[in-house]
Amino acid sequence: MELSYRPRRLRRTPALRAMVRETQLSPADFIYPLFVHEGATNEAIGAMPGCQRWSLDGLIHEVGRAWELGIRCVVLFPKVADGLKTEDGSESFNAGGLIPRAIKRIKEVHPAMTVMTDVALDPYSCDGHDGIVSQEGIVLNDETVEILCRQAVTQAMAGADLIGPSDMMDGRVGAIREALDAEGFEHVGIISYTAKYASAYYGPFREALDSAPRSTTAKPIPTNKSTYQMDPANGREALTEALLDEQEGADILMVKPGMAYLDIVHRLRAETELPIAAYNVSGEYAMVKAAAERGWIDEKAVVLETLLCFKRAGADLILTYHACDAATWLRQG
Ligand code: PBG
Repeated sequence: MELSYRPRRLRRTPALRAMVRETQLSPADFIYPLFVHEGATNEAIGAMPGCQRWSLDGLIHEVGRAWELGIRCVVLFPKVADGLKTEDGSESFNAGGLIPRAIKRIKEVHPAMTVMTDVALDPYSCDGHDGIVSQEGIVLNDETVEILCRQAVTQAMAGADLIGPSDMMDGRVGAIREALDAEGFEHVGIISYTAKYASAYYGPFREALDSAPRSTTAKPIPTNKSTYQMDPANGREALTEALLDEQEGADILMVKPGMAYLDIVHRLRAETELPIAAYNVSGEYAMVKAAAERGWIDEKAVVLETLLCFKRAGADLILTYHACDAATWLRQG
């Protein structure tokens, strides 16, 4: 054949392929999510093989391991005892609560590690919602934002570097920015869950924290989060959310879930100059683990390909439960 251009020329050797590779993956791209509980020992999480509910000591050890592997940020999620869950989620701003204690311990032992937090009421709410549920079964916006501000300030006081509102209430980024500034935390950043969809991919996470919406009182509880999390059918709406978060002072924008939503990452990349994070969520993790356990896929190859594709789509940062495994594999080359 007489072809003037043969794309295979640049794919011929490993060296040529390395020269023209457009995207690189590195452990510094990862944000490592960690579950923590009050127990004295670590507890395996059924639907997330390889993940634990860490004791405080176990957490410190795991953070150290992550640092050694080149990971520079962790995000913490609490499994809160049932007895501490209330309708207003007030345990979320208890300065002596599990998350503030965990942050302090990490900062004592590993001061250089970036600590990100999650701001939402679901782990602290007896109703399992990210906001306060009214007697009529409505998730209240403005009342919830007041509590989220207290939660964010409590986390900042404990030493958090990045506050991550995951609740999807309107106006929360601006309100949290103001609350942080008013308390002298101008240096604490906000990584906003900007485009967070009402997704079935969060199932294993809700098992890990026992945080799914549920009815424990006489009041009607919505069975899903669709009145605040976004409709998976909507793409343009993510741009509206991004614009609002940027105006309200977000430092980093996040898309969640990840794999089925890379088009959203790509669209945001074209619209903002802010760093973009994507969350490779619990259900995505569980699917890979389940298929790998059965020998149906090559776990290492699938994980590294998936994470690389997040970056190619436009993500600067990836929240992933695979962080330590992926960092180990990247090291091995
Ligand atoms: C809580 C929160 C959720 C996740 C992160 N923060 C669950 C939810 O919104 O129901 C999910 C993370 C995952 O599935 O890995 N607001």
